[in-house]
Amino acid sequence: MYKILRKRRLCDKVNEYVVEAPNVAKHAHPGQFIILRPDEEGERIPLTICDYDRERGTVTILVQEVGYTTMKLAAIPEGGCIADFVGPLGNATELDGYNDIVLVGGGIGTAVIYPQAKHLKSIGKPADVIVGARNRELIMYEDEFRAAARNLYLTTDDGSYVRKGFVTDVLKDLLDGGKKYDCVFAVGPMPMMRAVANLTKEYGIKTIVSMNTIMVDGTGMCGGCRLTVGGQTKYACVHGPEFDGHLIDWDEAINRSKTYRAEERRHVCMLTGEKQ
Ligand code: FES
Repeated sequence: MYKILRKRRLCDKVNEYVVEAPNVAKHAHPGQFIILRPDEEGERIPLTICDYDRERGTVTILVQEVGYTTMKLAAIPEGGCIADFVGPLGNATELDGYNDIVLVGGGIGTAVIYPQAKHLKSIGKPADVIVGARNRELIMYEDEFRAAARNLYLTTDDGSYVRKGFVTDVLKDLLDGGKKYDCVFAVGPMPMMRAVANLTKEYGIKTIVSMNTIMVDGTGMCGGCRLTVGGQTKYACVHGPEFDGHLIDWDEAINRSKTYRAEERRHVCMLTGEKQ
């Protein structure tokens, strides 16, 4: 069992958990993920490692209450335990070889770019960071990014904070204003990552995305996380989770991400008593 040492609400429906998991913390690197089950009957879900502390033996994850399992997880109080917490899984992100990077985070994807921002600052290559959310209440880690980023650009879909627009609007303005990046690292909902990749293709900038696919075993056996990248079959859990955004078959990836939507809705309704 893995104890939740700290739990705090970051914004509407998003909780940050600091979990006691020394073996995971010992081997973790930015970009990797864990698979957990809240209880012994639960389903397995993948979550990105947002931060880790090797000395304290802790791993930080962000959980957005979007489905049955994440709602069950949200019901576990600070001091409670998670049944399984397996990792680190997947490959670490390799951004050290680039000189001028912009990190782009949308929604919960912000959890993935934060450790990258910290790491790039620690090696003397602080990145520009663009964070987008639907509204002001959903902007996360603003203070943390101000400390870690070279420049922080915030945007909201409804204009309730800083500027109105999408992350792609900010990125386009920066590129048209003369910014020269040699790598864009984008993480967020698949349609957002696709929009970033479509934009950067026009400017010829290397673009890496982190694919938040459906996963079951996390070891390349079940096929749940299958993608087509550059015409080849890849598994996000063992070949990723990061891939060249210009090579992904986005229509297929987005369609596959909706596979269990009806079942998920049915389970959420059973849990909340809502009508289907
Ligand atoms: Fe099963 Fe990747 S999660 S193959």
